[in-house]
Amino acid sequence: MQNRLYFNQIDTPRADKRKLVDSIRGEKNSVGYYNLPLQNIDEIMEFAERFDTSIESIVVLGIGGSSLGAKAVYEFLKPIEQPKRTLIFFESTDPLNIADLLKKINMKKTHFFVISKSGGTVETISIFKYIYAKNSNNSHYTFITDRGSNLDKFAKEIGSRRFYLPANVGGRFSVLSVVGLLPLVLCGVDIQLLLKGANNINQAFFEEGYLQDILLNKALFYAKNHTRYNINCIFAYSETLKYFTEWYVQLWGESLGKKQRHSTFNVGLTPIGLIGPKDQHSFLQLIMEGTRDKSITFIKLKKFEHEMYIPSTTLPHLESLDILNGVAFHDLINMQCDSVIESLKNQKEVPLDEIIIPAVNAQSIGELIYYYELLTSLVGELIDVDTYNQPGVEAGKIILKEKLEKQSFSL
Ligand code: PA5
Repeated sequence: MQNRLYFNQIDTPRADKRKLVDSIRGEKNSVGYYNLPLQNIDEIMEFAERFDTSIESIVVLGIGGSSLGAKAVYEFLKPIEQPKRTLIFFESTDPLNIADLLKKINMKKTHFFVISKSGGTVETISIFKYIYAKNSNNSHYTFITDRGSNLDKFAKEIGSRRFYLPANVGGRFSVLSVVGLLPLVLCGVDIQLLLKGANNINQAFFEEGYLQDILLNKALFYAKNHTRYNINCIFAYSETLKYFTEWYVQLWGESLGKKQRHSTFNVGLTPIGLIGPKDQHSFLQLIMEGTRDKSITFIKLKKFEHEMYIPSTTLPHLESLDILNGVAFHDLINMQCDSVIESLKNQKEVPLDEIIIPAVNAQSIGELIYYYELLTSLVGELIDVDTYNQPGVEAGKIILKEKLEKQSFSL
């Protein structure tokens, strides 16, 4: 993976950069995700080897960090690596969505992963209750949660298989743990390669490799400009990255939108996920001529597996578009991306950078995931927030529980 920065870097003494790396390195004892690239995956592989071969679909019942990461990886690889099993995500209490997804599965040939770190998330448990009432074959369920949670106790009681999140791994940083690895390996994803990708970035940052300075400069720029360029767009030129951008939105938003640790100020950076060329026909105008409050990271794929060419035909009245004749789609989409980058470079005031991923494979997405996790940690440290908590989402949950309690009394 390559990353080119096209904005002026913040002049920062080397000693300050070293201090930042040291404080991130210091988090390794208390923040679990840093250790995931080198984890032992024997138990996961054993589970996959012994897995019931008659199972055709894997369902994830989970939300937020318990689903978005696996979805990003699965959807990225799907067009290229024919999945061994279909992976379906039940993430919403929308009855239309639940009914629609249920039509896609044969209960007898489906294995359900109930994934909830806390073990008490309303969306996940309500959907699980609904499905469990239809299929109470306990061997069709695997539970992934924190050791000792109420969900863990329930799973123990019904005798289902349980896996635990490793210590100190937060939901939105958990894709490279059992949370993502288990459902993905059962669908044929090469999870060793996924972790290898993550470890490449781990080394390229912590062992003073090619990415250390780039990541530091990027984080310093975002943090220094967090009130000016407070909107950070990823503009990915491949439909395969659509769900990666959803994962990024959760990671960035939930990690960085906080009260500062050492003040009472509310700060935050707003993530936006865009897909090219589609969003050239919608959001681009806002980037180009709107308020100068956005930074843009373009993500490009170097190699698209499919060689498809536009036929060299001339169509009446459309002769001016004969310039497209013989052009490969993979060249066209990257030329579109390059053209937008060039047009924005002329605007000067829009900070840009470009990430180039070599191909659609597990290693590339592992690299991209770990790169963004590290960047999030760095920016969180610099803007002085606790990157790994999410106290802001609790208030609404408490009100919902009160409403549900009131309703259940009146029933
Ligand atoms: O990142 C987070 O911690 C959250 O987005 C959680 O993943 C999300 O709220 C789901 O929580 P849980 O896994 O406890 O069901």
